Amino acid sequence: MKALITGITGFAGSHLGEYLLSRGDTEVYGSYRLRSRMDHIEHLLPHIRLAECELKDPHSVNEMIREIRPDFIFHLAAQSFVPTSWNSPTDTMTNNTVGQINIFEAVRKFDIDCKIQIACSSEEYGMVYPEETPIKETNPLRPLSPYAVSKVAQDYLGYQYYHSYGLKIIRTRTFNHTGPRRGESFVTSNFAKQIAQIELGTKPSMIYVGNLQAKRDFTDVRDVVKAYWAALEKGDPGEVYNISSGEACTIHEMLQTLLSFSEVKIELKVDPERLRPSDVEILLGDCTKFRDKTGWKPVIAFEQTMEDLLNYWREQ
Ligand code: GDD
Repeated sequence: MKALITGITGFAGSHLGEYLLSRGDTEVYGSYRLRSRMDHIEHLLPHIRLAECELKDPHSVNEMIREIRPDFIFHLAAQSFVPTSWNSPTDTMTNNTVGQINIFEAVRKFDIDCKIQIACSSEEYGMVYPEETPIKETNPLRPLSPYAVSKVAQDYLGYQYYHSYGLKIIRTRTFNHTGPRRGESFVTSNFAKQIAQIELGTKPSMIYVGNLQAKRDFTDVRDVVKAYWAALEKGDPGEVYNISSGEACTIHEMLQTLLSFSEVKIELKVDPERLRPSDVEILLGDCTKFRDKTGWKPVIAFEQTMEDLLNYWREQ
């Protein structure tokens, strides 16, 4: 069986590549762009096959899909940082929607019988009132950023291509996930990196922060990639599933957890640049539908994830 991971050089993609190789039952293919950094997947390179592909270019995607003829596609490649989407809304929409359409059309064109997982997001729920939590798949979608709108579009394109053409698409709405290799712009990594720099003495004991009151439901990326596999193995095409831990904490509590693994004394400073035009105040997911369908549940404790993340930044 052949599995194609778009965005294999990225955070979740590199962990998924690792997980699929550890299973030993799939040949792992990955797409990358010429300017992609390879540091997350250097250790995988002898065991995987890479295809250079610009997902926004239909020709490029057609060539890749025609050559590989995958049995499974994990579509993870995206512009995934919410603040970037305020600065580049057009680029975010184009990247996230056109790339996916090109994949779907290539699968149709070459009549590939494959299952496709698409990485949708809890950000789609957006404006959630506390009494609407924990969030089920049936909650309304009220996106609050261009990124979230692009994910709603990806989500509904998945729905539409399933119903119009019978493509075996499974949509996963993943809540926040983190762990080693998380990009440094995202809050967990950003704070962990700042703590590691303070420990080293390369930065004053001041942590720059944004909105600390927001609540997020964090799962370890190493659990999330197992969920992606379970989605294709056991999920129903056409369906959408939340992937979450079922517990939320404030960003401030997350920071306290990171600090509990360090001796440093810090001061907090709100950096106005880190505040968003509209932030999602609470994301707390209910993944009963997915758990009942696949048996998946996260096994790595939040504290372990945070400690591993801090150690990751200490080693950089
Ligand atoms: N990035 C960042 N930096 N966020 C901060 C900071 C900071 O210094 N201080 C507070 N925050 C708050 C943000 O305002 C937000 O409420 C929360 O921390 C999490 O921010 P991010 O880590 O940037 O993630 P996100 O929740 O916006 O989006 C992530 O999760 C989505 C799923 O819910 C991303 O991984 C998305 O790609 C993903 O779809």
